[in-house]
Amino acid sequence: MPDKDLTSLTIRRPDDWHLHLRDGAMLQAVLPETARHFARAIIMPNLVPPVVTAAQAAAYRDRIMAALPDGMRFTPLMTLYLTEATDPEDVRAAHAAGIATAVKLYPAGATTNSASGVRDFEKVRPVLDVMAEIGMPLCVHGEVTDHDIDIFDREAVFIDKILKPLRKKVPDLKVVMEHVTTQDAVDYVRDSHKNMAATITTHHLIINRNHILAGGIKPHFYCLPVAKREAHRIALVQAAVSGDKRFFLGTDSAPHVDAAKLQNCGCAGIFTATNTMSCLAEVFEVAGQLKKLEAFTSINGPMFYGLPPNEATITLTKGDPVPYPDRIDTPDGPVTMFDPGFDLHWRVTG
Ligand code: NCD
Ligand code: ZN
Repeated sequence: MPDKDLTSLTIRRPDDWHLHLRDGAMLQAVLPETARHFARAIIMPNLVPPVVTAAQAAAYRDRIMAALPDGMRFTPLMTLYLTEATDPEDVRAAHAAGIATAVKLYPAGATTNSASGVRDFEKVRPVLDVMAEIGMPLCVHGEVTDHDIDIFDREAVFIDKILKPLRKKVPDLKVVMEHVTTQDAVDYVRDSHKNMAATITTHHLIINRNHILAGGIKPHFYCLPVAKREAHRIALVQAAVSGDKRFFLGTDSAPHVDAAKLQNCGCAGIFTATNTMSCLAEVFEVAGQLKKLEAFTSINGPMFYGLPPNEATITLTKGDPVPYPDRIDTPDGPVTMFDPGFDLHWRVTG
């Protein structure tokens, strides 16, 4: 059946391979937005202070499970924030005990709460060697932080200056280049035949840099890596809808209260947890590839991580535009929801 005639789609329950849940009252407010549709998520460790050790990850996982409303099922897959002081044996133990699924690499200063990230990659080499040995993936925020590199070039430069040499030194390390935003990253991942994958966010499939800057500045479209020009967005859509198993969903849903976004130096991050599945169905339908949605949201990710895909399913149904709210309320203040700029006809109905 051509996509335009499809009005219902049942797929394996999706997972989110890059998610910010925060902590405290914000965690409480945003967790149900993800758990409603997603079975599992890779949880980002960039709290203040960051989640560095196995003990901190176990405690954070407990706080997430305690915040989960009764009757909801959700499995947080924890990550450890890589620092130059990370102990390789703590990482090994966290993996063996099922506490941590992956390690997160932030180049120091690359994004929100990344000050304790890595400056000298040789210092983390022993950790990377252990991870390669035990098959534990490294999730990478792929942007250089040099002030003299243009912000729109930081991902492409990261691939050449950091990622390629790192993968040469530790070829057995499984690497996820997260929230890719460029044709360069898509090409690099496509040309890598082993141990390399990428996540793509919901919003980078929908917005380009004009959305942020043309006709007035739109802070709610500001995130890192920053959205690039339209040709790059098209490359991302092609990768996502291709079914290529190296590309899968990581929403990078990153809630900040409006007061933190709407200021002289506003935070980076877009909150997409609530309407992600509706947005994605629309993107895949427009591309004529609705039947590939399941590979992107529910199959390719677990396959790369060596986990079984979910047995449970969700059903998306097409109808009148879904009236999503503009924002969700949290005790810390309102969090604006991603506005794709078009009507969303698909809703999760079961
Ligand atoms: C994220 C955040 O707010 O924690 N922000 C963002 O723009 N994506 C950090 C990140 O993943 O870079
Ligand atoms: Zn993120």
